[in-house]
Amino acid sequence: MTGIDLSRRSLLPLAVGFWATTSASASTPSQPRAPWWKNSVFYEIYPRSFQDGNSDGIGDFIGMKDRLEYLAELGVDAIWVAACFDSPNVDNGYDVRDYRKIMPDFGTMADFDAFLARAKQLGIRVILDMVFNHTSDQHRWFIESRSSRNNRYRDFYHWHDGKNGAPPTNWQTQFGGSAWTLDEKTGQYYLHSFEAQQPDLNWENPEVRAELYAILKFWANKGVDGFRFDAITFIAKPEKLYDLTPEEIPARKTFADHGDRLSFYLKDMYKHVFKNTDLYSVGENWGVSRDEYARITDSRNKELSSGFRFDFQIKDNVDAWRKGTFHLSDLRAFNRDNSFDDHPGTWPVVWLEDHDYSRSVSRYGSQRPEYRDRSAKLLATMMLSLRGTPFIYQGQEIGMTNFPFKSIDQFDDVFAHNEWRLQVESGHISSQEMLVNLAATTRDNTRTPMQWNDGPNAGFSAVKPWMLVNPNFRTTNYSAESSDPRSVLSFYKKMIRTRKQFPVLIHGTYKDVSPDDSQIYAYIREDSTNRVLIALNFSDDEKTFALPEGETVKRIIASNMDRTQIQGSAMRMQPWESVVVMI
Ligand code: GLC
Ligand code: CA
Repeated sequence: MTGIDLSRRSLLPLAVGFWATTSASASTPSQPRAPWWKNSVFYEIYPRSFQDGNSDGIGDFIGMKDRLEYLAELGVDAIWVAACFDSPNVDNGYDVRDYRKIMPDFGTMADFDAFLARAKQLGIRVILDMVFNHTSDQHRWFIESRSSRNNRYRDFYHWHDGKNGAPPTNWQTQFGGSAWTLDEKTGQYYLHSFEAQQPDLNWENPEVRAELYAILKFWANKGVDGFRFDAITFIAKPEKLYDLTPEEIPARKTFADHGDRLSFYLKDMYKHVFKNTDLYSVGENWGVSRDEYARITDSRNKELSSGFRFDFQIKDNVDAWRKGTFHLSDLRAFNRDNSFDDHPGTWPVVWLEDHDYSRSVSRYGSQRPEYRDRSAKLLATMMLSLRGTPFIYQGQEIGMTNFPFKSIDQFDDVFAHNEWRLQVESGHISSQEMLVNLAATTRDNTRTPMQWNDGPNAGFSAVKPWMLVNPNFRTTNYSAESSDPRSVLSFYKKMIRTRKQFPVLIHGTYKDVSPDDSQIYAYIREDSTNRVLIALNFSDDEKTFALPEGETVKRIIASNMDRTQIQGSAMRMQPWESVVVMI
């Protein structure tokens, strides 16, 4: 469908010497002809905050295009561009008004085309974010739909009568409050899993699906390589309306089933759009069980290529705002689970950050300044040595941290403001408690502008950016790190290279070899040719790690501390040290 298969590596600028080692699309003994997206490292761009190219304080496609060489040099194979279509921005682009138009803040279609063409030249693929669970309430379909009960678009959305003057059910939105809004004019309620300005589409209606598939084909014909499907597990609604139990309501549940209809819609979409193409589809698979995930992403089932799971992310981010405690055991359990060795047909995504969560180094890394960067490199070691497709989020590769939020007006996110209204202004939670928790968990932490250099506005824009810049930009920035071989950025480059050089890190089996340790986390990846041990010291203390019985180290292939040797059967590990060794 994309019709463009550039011979990727040959087009790379010669200056980028380190590409020489292996091609990302090489087949491996265990995985002949793996699809391109299995061997790729992805990078998520949040356009609003990446690079401002026309000096209005907002990131855009001109800026993104100018930074593509940086991404080629980093070694990423593909980019996920977060929501970038025309939108009134109630939820920063996740409320789409026109799926065939670029958000004017981000530029024109010509800017997008130039960006895509340059990405192709550099051998970088591009996937777009399709927000198909809902549209904006300003979308033409919804304007029609709400205009009268018998409009031909009425059935594009979920309209229901109220119940004794109240909403049809007690379902809650993901952002807080009732999931139903009464439309005075026609006297019925419409369903929205998110804000009232984000009405849910009715996927049961074949006309809706046909419209959505046409949109996918429109972008695929332009040459994009796939799609990330926003909130995809919400598209299937329960067959009948029912009320949640009182216990389910505080958990902000909209409805509980992702049932059969989800698979039906996904198979239908596959058949109409993905079949006989090499387009990639990655779902935001919120709230599904491990078994459901395996079913949805099993290549034999022809639904989605892979998906993001949230089971680990929500452990220390409770109800999307309360800061919980990070336990290594949770991470360990999730990684074992997520490697899906027992489901060879399923392919996982490996990720620590996206535009909806706070910064990984602030969540899981060291809180001691002297170990911060080292712990960011340890996280990179882990992310790039697990089975699945890694997604790096912009700024993660330079070790960007959470923002020191001090007051509610520093927040941009609609969710943070809703929560403030619902919980603080109503007297449920003190402003202090809410601030401390939101500061640690808010997704605004990953939406501060990318830190390019130590100049004005961190090099993001010539004028004041739409969002506050993290004050640590003077030291944590791309320019300083690119000239420092010991920086977080340099380490990411090395680790990406290492992953490509040793396909066992992509496709091998996974075995935890320190299952009961609360500080050292070690695992072995194995395929028919190689066995690799990864050891990570998740603590501020020096620790000894005993190699598993009978194992000896052949050589070190990556180290976040310039380690050159390991003697004997025990390894003394520095705080936050990480090593990858051949055994
Ligand atoms: C997804 C997006 C998030 C958005 C929500 C509603 O979770 O990643 O940013 O707010 O869907 O579209
Ligand atoms: Ca701009």
